[in-house]
Amino acid sequence: MPTIAIVSQKGGSGKTTMATHLATCAAYAGSKSCVIDMDPQATAAAWGDWRGDFLPEVITCPPVRLISAIGKATRDGTEVIVLDTPPHGDLASREAVRAADLILIPTRARAFDLHSLEATAQLVAYARKPAFVVLNAVPSRATRMLAETAEQVENLGLAVCPIHFGERAAFHKASGAGEVAAESEPEGKAAAEVSALWAWVKEQLPPGK
Ligand SMILES: Nc1ncnc2c1ncn2[C@@H]1O[C@H](COP(=O)(O)OP(=O)(O)OP(=O)(O)O)[C@@H](O)[C@H]1O
Ligand SMILES: [Mg+2]
Repeated sequence: MPTIAIVSQKGGSGKTTMATHLATCAAYAGSKSCVIDMDPQATAAAWGDWRGDFLPEVITCPPVRLISAIGKATRDGTEVIVLDTPPHGDLASREAVRAADLILIPTRARAFDLHSLEATAQLVAYARKPAFVVLNAVPSRATRMLAETAEQVENLGLAVCPIHFGERAAFHKASGAGEVAAESEPEGKAAAEVSALWAWVKEQLPPGK
């Protein structure tokens, strides 16, 4: 049962957007998927309410109930689990990292965001799990910014995912309607970026997952 944790101590870095988009992409690819929303703000759960009865299912879960929620999802036939975590949520992030097969850390390429990456780097340092920073909301034609940010991230001892998300209105427009970018703009760049990330994520999962 692949479990992917989306963590970042920084608020607004794109965790929920990435969680809902990846889980939906997995569902379109034929896997029963769910988002476990560990954030008391319950943003993914609100998105799930707006979405209605379509996959992925969104389950709210306090950190101490995570293992039990994963067990129940597994028994219900869920094939891909994506964990959405709160910012500054030490316990939630720790539990998510512990349960994960793969950790994704969405980060905007801004000084304050990179600064708070240090806390997340410490969190994943002892996890001994594959963990990657995914640069998010990257402005177009920001090639130099991308390269410099990647270097700063690597200096913190973190790996950078080769796929990034651009700054795209399609992400927030779709989310506000309980959709994903592939539904509201199927031919758009945001949808293509999510598909590319999902294809790459599948390659990173440990064999047998
Ligand atoms: N690639 C992107 N391009 C444009 N807007 C984006 C992108 N990714 C996320 N956003 C927007 O940025 C805002 C924050 O995103 P999101 O809620 O996913 O972040 P978060 O890390 O879950 O926040 P929090 O820490 O509060 O839980 C939202 O309005 C979302 O629509
Ligand atoms: Mg969120």
